[in-house]
Amino acid sequence: MRFVVTAGPTREFLDPVRFLSNPSSGKMGFAVAEEAAKSGHEVFLVAGPVNLKTPKGVKRIDVTSARDMLKAVKGVLDRDSVLVGVAAVADFRPKVKAARKLHKGEMPETIELVRNPDILASVKCRHKVGFAAETDRVLESAAGKCRRKRLGMIVANDVTRPGAGFGTDTNLASFVFPDGNVERLPIMSKRRLARKIVERISKWF
Ligand code: PMT
Repeated sequence: MRFVVTAGPTREFLDPVRFLSNPSSGKMGFAVAEEAAKSGHEVFLVAGPVNLKTPKGVKRIDVTSARDMLKAVKGVLDRDSVLVGVAAVADFRPKVKAARKLHKGEMPETIELVRNPDILASVKCRHKVGFAAETDRVLESAAGKCRRKRLGMIVANDVTRPGAGFGTDTNLASFVFPDGNVERLPIMSKRRLARKIVERISKWF
């Protein structure tokens, strides 16, 4: 089976030296790619700017912005693929990107933003799995995203909890399904959580 995994943050530049982004390290997405490769799947890892080594047996495509990420995903995804969206994709980008560094006096008082495309929602393939980084109403928000993006499952993590979310080696997550079922998991390493996700997806084939 072909797995396409997105990982890390995206960067949305205002000018060549300033961007909007988030604290994603890529650890969770790289762990999913590594575990899928270990299980014998062909794996494409579409990675935002992160400082991690490519897992063995994984084909990596580096990207910067959400639009780059969407293009790269579309380039490798086919009808029979599984897409696992672990990336923390910036939902908005500055409407205008200056070609050179803006001097302080030239900076606008407010920055106009436009919505980025939603990668998971805009592609079709055999199975789609998402992640939801939440700070409140975690399961409810995750369930809504699962339905709206037509996912087989979403992995909800409350990024306010110690040992969960951005940059950590562990995560505290729940599997949320479109029918409303929820499977709560204890805190565990991102690698172990990744193995559980790949095992769960493998049951669908
Ligand atoms: O990288 P780490 O430091 O290990 O941190 C891991 C993590 C916290 C980034 C990861 O566990 C996580 O929760 N990833 C999803 C973060 C997120 O942006 O969630 P969201 O609720 O904004 O998006 C929901 C889903 O839609 C995600 O699968 C996301 O990849 C996808 N999405 C979102 C926006 C967009 N424009 N396109 C998308 O495909």
